[in-house]
Amino acid sequence: MAQHKRSVTVIGLGPMGRSMVKAFLDAGIEVTVWNRTASKADDLVALGAKRADTVADALDANELIVVSLAHYQAMHDVLGQAPDHIEGKVVANLSSDSPEHTRAGASWVLDHGGKFLTGGFMSEGPNITHPDSYLYFSGPQDVFDANKDLLRPLSRQEYLGEDYGLAQVFYQAELALFNAFMLGWEQALAIVDRSGADLDRFVANAAEHPHTYRDFMRQWAEFAKQGGWADADSLNLMYNATQHIIETSEALGVDAELTKTIQDYHRRAIAATEKAGHPVSVYRVLRGDAE
Ligand SMILES: NC(=O)c1ccc[n+]([C@@H]2O[C@H](COP(=O)([O-])OP(=O)(O)OC[C@H]3O[C@@H](n4cnc5c(N)ncnc54)[C@H](OP(=O)(O)O)[C@@H]3O)[C@@H](O)[C@H]2O)c1
Repeated sequence: MAQHKRSVTVIGLGPMGRSMVKAFLDAGIEVTVWNRTASKADDLVALGAKRADTVADALDANELIVVSLAHYQAMHDVLGQAPDHIEGKVVANLSSDSPEHTRAGASWVLDHGGKFLTGGFMSEGPNITHPDSYLYFSGPQDVFDANKDLLRPLSRQEYLGEDYGLAQVFYQAELALFNAFMLGWEQALAIVDRSGADLDRFVANAAEHPHTYRDFMRQWAEFAKQGGWADADSLNLMYNATQHIIETSEALGVDAELTKTIQDYHRRAIAATEKAGHPVSVYRVLRGDAE
């Protein structure tokens, strides 16, 4: 089996890139770093990282180039400074972006003679070494297999398949859930807080519930495979239930736009149900094939 040099380059030293550099160094891997704002490398150099003065030097230093930037345009801005130095490199871009931008980024790297992997971090902020953190990967199986050991210090790995966009499909889907869930949680906190009730008592109860959502999630996923949960009585029940949340929120001065949006999905499903003459689920409204 081919032995790979235990060294990597990390381009991008935001909170995530910095955590990656530390995880690599802790694992005894040599790290060369480059960042647009060069001073962000100072403390990492003090920890043992090597500073590359130019993007070309950063690319030349190692075969595996880990990229952690705000978006894929930043990768083009950075690697575009030394496109002739990409040949023979494996670029593992662990930045967030849409699957389409990811696939276009992969094509660009391949056009310059490099190989590509896409990654999406599911972590609590930059706490990438937390046991619950994991990293979605997609791209060619052989490229992943050849580099997975070197990338292992970053997080538990979930390799999804060959499509460069796949890691971002999973990552963005999880973020869609996380964002809606946490905004709902903040609305719940605001309702209790504005009511004058004991917020800590509420949190003690409500924070115990999410593990039961696992059952709902699996059940709803089974419904989704059949077109979604579309019992006509239940749609009306859910519509009315959202009205009560809206009235409760607004009476307390809490913004109810999130619940109004949810209610509107139920309104659209009820309208589609009436038009079709058979139950049409909120899932199909969301999926975009109901109306
Ligand atoms: N933070 C998290 O909790 C978290 C979790 C999972 C995934 N992610 C994703 O991981 C990626 C990195 O996140 P982050 O929080 O570490 O930092 P970030 O704030 O998203 O990105 C900061 C990095 O991008 C660089 N950058 C931005 N635009 C650039 C450009 N046009 N040219 C060159 N460099 C540019 C910055 O350089 P300068 O230092 O020079 O400004 C810095 O290195 C993002 O895609 C983010 O969505 C973040």
